This record gives sequence, structure tokens and C-alpha cells, in this order.
Amino acid sequence: MVVLPIFFGAPWHPLLPRTIQRILRFAEVRPGENFCDLGCGEGRVLITATKQFSANSIGVEIDPIKVYFARLWARINRVGDKVVITRGNLFDFDPSSADVLYLYLTHQAMDQLFPEILKKLKPSVRIVSYRFCLRGMDPQKVSEDKTLFLYQLNKGNKINNYQ
Ligand SMILES: C[S@@+](CC[C@H](N)C(=O)[O-])C[C@H]1O[C@@H](n2cnc3c(N)ncnc32)[C@H](O)[C@@H]1O
Repeated sequence: MVVLPIFFGAPWHPLLPRTIQRILRFAEVRPGENFCDLGCGEGRVLITATKQFSANSIGVEIDPIKVYFARLWARINRVGDKVVITRGNLFDFDPSSADVLYLYLTHQAMDQLFPEILKKLKPSVRIVSYRFCLRGMDPQKVSEDKTLFLYQLNKGNKINNYQ
């Protein structure tokens, strides 16, 4: 649960509830939006996005133990029908339905994801990255403590070159 993900792209680092709230407010998640977490861990951000921000949440996680607990936790929170968690590799996952794409990965994993993933995303997608900025891309918004970065493809960002 802790060691395996390090080899695939990102370590395990559980977030405090107030940090999850901060991330979702920063992303300005709206009711009915599709919120996607690549490497969703135990699904806590997804579950909060659905329970408190009325989003439809999808996520992918490589660790089967975390997937088990994420699905269980979603059912316990009575959002099992609105939080869909896939067990698999985030590099093979289809994020094309995402209105908000949330990432808490390492620079190495991000470098592997970008720019290829941009071809699969909606032009209107908001990409929110926690702790790691996206190299070579200009964020539209950065949190005061510089731990959250928001990118929008349709706001003149040079990443539009890849659409
Ligand atoms: C830093 S945690 C973030 C968890 C969650 N997104 C959050 O914000 O609380 C990174 C997660 O990515 C998962 N992960 C790492 N590499 C992955 C891969 N290639 N495919 C799917 N999940 C992966 C890890 O197992 C871990 O749960």
C-alpha cells in the first residue's frame, strides 16, 4: 500500500480534511461537474467532492487495497453511485469526461502524463495540481502558500498548442 505506488508514479500521503476542502474550493467545483482524480488513493477527495460539492466523481488507483477501501468508504458515505473508482494505471485511464482534473502526483509522473494527456481532455477542463506545478505551463491561479496550481486550457495558455 505504501511502497508499490512509489514505483508507479507517486507515494501515499493522506490529506487532512481541511486540506481536501481547500483543494475543492480552490478548484471551484460546481454541482453536476465531473471531478476526476488520477491516483485517487482511498478516494477521500472524490467522496468529499460528491458529498459536499455535489460533483460526479471518477478516479483511478493502482493499489487494490486502496481501491477496496475507497469503494467501501464511498458506500458508507452513501455516494457509492456517484463515485466511480477504477482499479488500474492512471496512464491508461480515459479522463475525457473530466470538467475538473485533480492531480497529486510527483514531477516524474506529471512529466510522463503531459503533454500527451491534453489531447484527451475537454478544452474547458480545469486542471488542479496539489504541491507540484506543471512544468512549462502557466497557471491561471496559484494559492497563497504556493501549494495549489490551477490551469485552464481555454484561457490562452500555451498548452493550447497541444489540442
Ligand atoms: C500522493 S497520493 C494522492 C492520493 C489522492 N489523490 C489524494 O489527493 O489524497 C498518490 C496516489 O497515486 C497512486 N498512484 C501512483 N502511481 C499510480 C499509477 N501509475 N496509477 C494509478 N495510481 C497511482 C498511489 O497509489 C497513491 O494512492
